[in-house]
Amino acid sequence: MAAVDDDTIAYWQHADADRWQSETPTLVSEAATRIAARSDRAFFTNPADARASWALSVGAAAAARAIAYSNKPLVHDGPATIPAGHADPDLTRLVIRDAVGCRVRTVEGRVLFDLSSGLYNTPLGHRHPAPAVGFLTQATSVAATNPFVATTPVAEHVADRLRRALCLNEWSVVFAGSGSEAMETAMRFAVAAAGRIVNVRPGEFHGITAAAAALSSHHTVHYPLRPIMDVRYTPISDWKERGVGVIEPAGVMSGQPPITEADRSQLSSFRRRGGVVVVDEVLSGLGRTMWPSLTTALRIPADIVVLGKGLANGIVPISAVLIAPEVLARVTGTGGLDHGHTHSNHAASLGAALGCLESLEAHKHDPDRLRAALDAAGVANTTIGWLASVKLTESSRATTTAALLDAGLMCHLPTMVDPVERLIVAPPLTTSDEDLADMAQRLADVQRVLAE
Ligand SMILES: Cc1ncc(COP(=O)(O)O)c(C=O)c1O
Repeated sequence: MAAVDDDTIAYWQHADADRWQSETPTLVSEAATRIAARSDRAFFTNPADARASWALSVGAAAAARAIAYSNKPLVHDGPATIPAGHADPDLTRLVIRDAVGCRVRTVEGRVLFDLSSGLYNTPLGHRHPAPAVGFLTQATSVAATNPFVATTPVAEHVADRLRRALCLNEWSVVFAGSGSEAMETAMRFAVAAAGRIVNVRPGEFHGITAAAAALSSHHTVHYPLRPIMDVRYTPISDWKERGVGVIEPAGVMSGQPPITEADRSQLSSFRRRGGVVVVDEVLSGLGRTMWPSLTTALRIPADIVVLGKGLANGIVPISAVLIAPEVLARVTGTGGLDHGHTHSNHAASLGAALGCLESLEAHKHDPDRLRAALDAAGVANTTIGWLASVKLTESSRATTTAALLDAGLMCHLPTMVDPVERLIVAPPLTTSDEDLADMAQRLADVQRVLAE
């Protein structure tokens, strides 16, 4: 043991340590990158060999660079970035150095449970290999192509897999980047098909791009851009005129109840009158609530379904808009619609999505484990699957954030909400029972501290 310690000290404290720790792996990384750059003869040699050698050398380069960065982390000078969600660069933020499973580690070395990682796009947990492997596999053949004139096998494959999973076999799919972009695309199709009257339930959030933000009744989300459509914030029972109806079925953020039998029949009659129903499953889809989606599980009458967030487990932003054939026919009948952009149907992102979907499909979805853990710890909650709303004694954002951090929890507080009266809890679907019990106990402590 002493010999090992001596060696370790000699390694880390040697006068040349900086060279071994950082310079050498950086040189190895650069050499491997040069080798990867030379595998540019895929069209002339055996393409399988070329792809494999490219993947191996890129993988070796990444591994060497990971060692260099671990030994000599990137220096954090911040704040140079503006936080998403609040145009206030002075807002205090955690700086996350690395993450694995349901935990993150800050640059100061604090390990926290990531209660929101499922919202921030990692349903399989941080650093799950499948989406990274999928991304690299696709990048070995074609990472991006002209989406206006070409498609790729991976795009067709993921689209088909999604529509089969959601039992929407004849539907067409277009892939975008963020959930907001997907909602933007969905609204283009929906308004083109059914007109500018848009019905939305109040309190829902549909994203931050122009059309998506116009759907939100939250002032901080929509105020610079409204009105670009005739948006009406009304319950489904008041959707009388032909037009578009948009619903976010989980309703945890807005406090709406899930879709009821009465909602279903009103949505059906709205559609019979020519209305187009857009179901925003950016938050609720792909197992966050029920597998594969609430549209499927609750038989929600729909014309367009939008998925996002966890589709590639956070490796890249990717979202999907599934469109019914009748809507497509109505839109093509209007003389055409420009809807896509240069990142539409992005191949390498879809490689990551394929890896993620395969793992999500193989995952044993159990919609009761999160609720059971919260109930066992005595945490008052309203939960659908892996999306829980946890009631707190009303407190300022600052007090709530401090109580969460003291308990070792990182949790997103929606920026439009202050004071805070509930938390949205969405850990990875892969979180173990033991970790769920630990998280739930810490949440019980936060509830108690804020109540005192
Ligand atoms: C229901 C819903 N729709 C749309 C969005 C927008 O997605 P994104 O933040 O990826 O643009 C969100 C984001 O939280 C959401 O929860």
